[in-house]
Amino acid sequence: MKKLAAFYFTGTGNTLYIVKRICEKLSAQYLSELIDVTQKGDLSKKLEGADLILLAFPIYGSAPPIPMREFVAKYGGSLKGKRIAIAETQYFFSGDGAASLGRAVEKCGGAVIAAEHFNMPNNLADSTIFPVKNGKELEKTLLRAQKRADKFAQNILEGKCARRGFGVFSHAVGYFCQRKFFRKNEAEKRKKLAIDPKKCVSCGLCAQKCPVGNLKKESGKIVPAGKCVLCYRCVNLCPQRAITLVGKNPPKAQYRGFRDTESRH
Ligand SMILES: Cc1cc2nc3c(=O)[nH]c(=O)nc-3n(C[C@H](O)[C@H](O)[C@H](O)COP(=O)(O)O)c2cc1C
Repeated sequence: MKKLAAFYFTGTGNTLYIVKRICEKLSAQYLSELIDVTQKGDLSKKLEGADLILLAFPIYGSAPPIPMREFVAKYGGSLKGKRIAIAETQYFFSGDGAASLGRAVEKCGGAVIAAEHFNMPNNLADSTIFPVKNGKELEKTLLRAQKRADKFAQNILEGKCARRGFGVFSHAVGYFCQRKFFRKNEAEKRKKLAIDPKKCVSCGLCAQKCPVGNLKKESGKIVPAGKCVLCYRCVNLCPQRAITLVGKNPPKAQYRGFRDTESRH
């Protein structure tokens, strides 16, 4: 049995869902270990002896999320000569989402043997443009994503190399339509996380679930530490709908993600 190390970042569970599906399908040849890149400690040991590395993440404005970029920056040296597969989840568009991390991986000497984009439910709950859906409304989206995950895994098993998002056109579209502007304002957006003091009851759920320890309870109040990575977990989880991030209005509906079935959400 070969070894697969699946490194992922997820805000609201979409990416973890896809990672599990891919690993399940790869289990014919690979024994997989799932590793959350936000977990504490040295992750380089997990890369050792891996025959295949899966890097999976949600796309934010055609850019990989900060924890994933930090992972590649920190462990890039250990990716040299490794076979890498990239799975990027998105609501509907990224242009070159997978390649936006893939190029950094290749600079480190990793060989990207497969890359795919998976359309998944929207988690931008405070957006006024894109509505958040849950439950039965998502059945078709999930079915399509499952099929794509199965095909992605099958291609890997058969040694077929398909790399979505690596063409020149995809690169230009991803950069000029989104990433250029998103990255320029990323630091501003990170500071935008707002907790409505009239609504917040300091239950502490957001602090408990924040993947990067950005939210802390201090003197009975929830306080951000300026480390927000824009994952929207807290916005979607807050029982009082007291948290907003990029949008101005509190969410009309929250994305429940896979938290009914996943203990970490
Ligand atoms: C800050 C932010 C920016 C996003 N930008 C995009 C985008 O450019 N294109 C897109 O299709 N989806 C975008 N999305 C949607 C997410 O990428 C998508 O819902 C993803 O599957 C969430 O994965 P997760 O549940 O693993 O966190 C964005 C979401 C967030 C929170």
